[in-house]
Amino acid sequence: MMMRAAVGLWVLSAVTCVSSANSVSLVSEANEAFSFRLYRQLAAHADSQGKNIFFSPASVSAALAMLSVGAQGETHHQLFSGLGFNSSLLTQTDVDQAFQTLLQRANNTSQEDASEGTAMFVDDYFKPKPEFLQTLKQSYFADGFNVDFNKTTESADAINKYMEEKTNGKIDKLVEDVDANTVMYLISYVYYKGKWATPFDPELTKEDDFNVDENTKVPAVMMNLEDTLHAYQDQELNTTVLQLPFNSSYYMLLMLPDIMVTLENAICPNHVTKWLKAMSPRRYNVDIPKFSIKTSYKLNDVLSEMGMTDMFGDRAIFTGISEEEGLFVSDLVHQATLDVEAEAEAEAAASTRSSSIELTTALPAPIPVKFNRPFMVIITESNTEKILFLGKIINPII
Ligand SMILES: *[C@@H]1O[C@H](CO)[C@@H](O)[C@H](O)[C@H]1NC(C)=O
Ligand SMILES: *[C@@H]1O[C@H](CO)[C@@H](O)[C@H](O)[C@H]1NC(C)=O
Ligand SMILES: *[C@@H]1O[C@H](CO)[C@@H](O)[C@H](O)[C@H]1NC(C)=O
Ligand SMILES: *[C@@H]1O[C@H](CO)[C@@H](O)[C@H](O)[C@H]1NC(C)=O
Ligand SMILES: *[C@@H]1O[C@H](CO)[C@@H](O)[C@H](O)[C@H]1NC(C)=O
Ligand SMILES: *[C@@H]1O[C@H](CO)[C@@H](O)[C@H](O)[C@H]1NC(C)=O
Repeated sequence: MMMRAAVGLWVLSAVTCVSSANSVSLVSEANEAFSFRLYRQLAAHADSQGKNIFFSPASVSAALAMLSVGAQGETHHQLFSGLGFNSSLLTQTDVDQAFQTLLQRANNTSQEDASEGTAMFVDDYFKPKPEFLQTLKQSYFADGFNVDFNKTTESADAINKYMEEKTNGKIDKLVEDVDANTVMYLISYVYYKGKWATPFDPELTKEDDFNVDENTKVPAVMMNLEDTLHAYQDQELNTTVLQLPFNSSYYMLLMLPDIMVTLENAICPNHVTKWLKAMSPRRYNVDIPKFSIKTSYKLNDVLSEMGMTDMFGDRAIFTGISEEEGLFVSDLVHQATLDVEAEAEAEAAASTRSSSIELTTALPAPIPVKFNRPFMVIITESNTEKILFLGKIINPII
């Protein structure tokens, strides 16, 4: 996220605040609902037609919440309601404290295979308000750096190098060129490298057709696994939901609908809750295509369409960041990558163990589930239930 205008020094300190459990759950429910709203908006966008979708809702909502810290008036109102925060129940301070708790919780449960955080790069000549910097540091654990954005190449290199280190090289060219008018970059990232709890046997991997649509088949590399897994058949949405645990507290949910738009238009946090509750362990024989995705979105249009318009233009009010006039968000860019492979590993980055598996002793005939047509994926962590990644694979070979 890039703020443009003219014009650094900043002081940080840390204080620990305790927030009520109630606002934490209000914020995390709002974040979950925001995930699916953002998904639908992205999916409906002309640029997304015929493309896979993959993004990190957790990282986008953290970035927008940081921005709302410094927003006021209508700009703040739009960000707040766009994120789904009810201003008669939550203040910005409640939201900040809830993020602090949620980010700490995520940090406490994540192993070394996950990395998530935020950073801000502030121009040497720009003087943000100390309160703003303090809130970002204290509640969003933002790393802070001073850079000279007039030196466009060096400052872009500094940001890209930071992201590369934090995401094991998975996100490298976040910033292509810096506008000399940039005063601040806010960055929120998530990187996840998972190992499947039960690895796919590379020997069973074979080439097979993937049905992109009724008339289009593409040759995909299909991985195969036979195991006791949790799954659910949603009769209302005509969708098979399968939970594939990583060897940690993270898991992937794969949703295979009869008709993609039926699922896409309806999916909401209540469905996920229902599926997880209703899932039961059985023997399954699963075919999943090997795929990797790297997406990059400029979210200005999508967020504007969701009502967050003012921040991108001359109506923006960011007087909580600085008294400086004319501050606005010039670019809101989001990148995410995911690799799914047979050899026991999955890697996902954006700028994600499972609920326990009950092993049955008897081995009934496994139920086949073939992900050989478009499906949706969610990567989440079982303690926080935070949606780290959300996406749709319509073609595994693009
Ligand atoms: C916000 O919360 C209030 C009080 O619970 C409720 O009356 C109102 O309908 C809520 N607004 C929205 C938009 O959900
Ligand atoms: C996360 O944990 C690491 C190591 O335990 C610690 O250094 C870091 O400050 C923590 N970050 C947050 C956001 O709590
Ligand atoms: C995270 O862990 C630390 C130390 O183990 C503990 O003090 C803190 O309360 C935990 N935070 C949350 C949100 O679970
Ligand atoms: C950088 O640009 C700002 C505004 O464009 C200007 O005020 C400042 O003097 C420039 N700094 C250098 C070192 O050129
Ligand atoms: C689900 O499938 C059944 C049987 O094919 C069909 O009657 C029903 O309309 C479908 N439901 C939806 C929501 O598409
Ligand atoms: C899963 O993790 C445990 C302990 O962290 C390790 O001993 C085991 O080898 C891992 N299994 C796989 C399949 O990586």
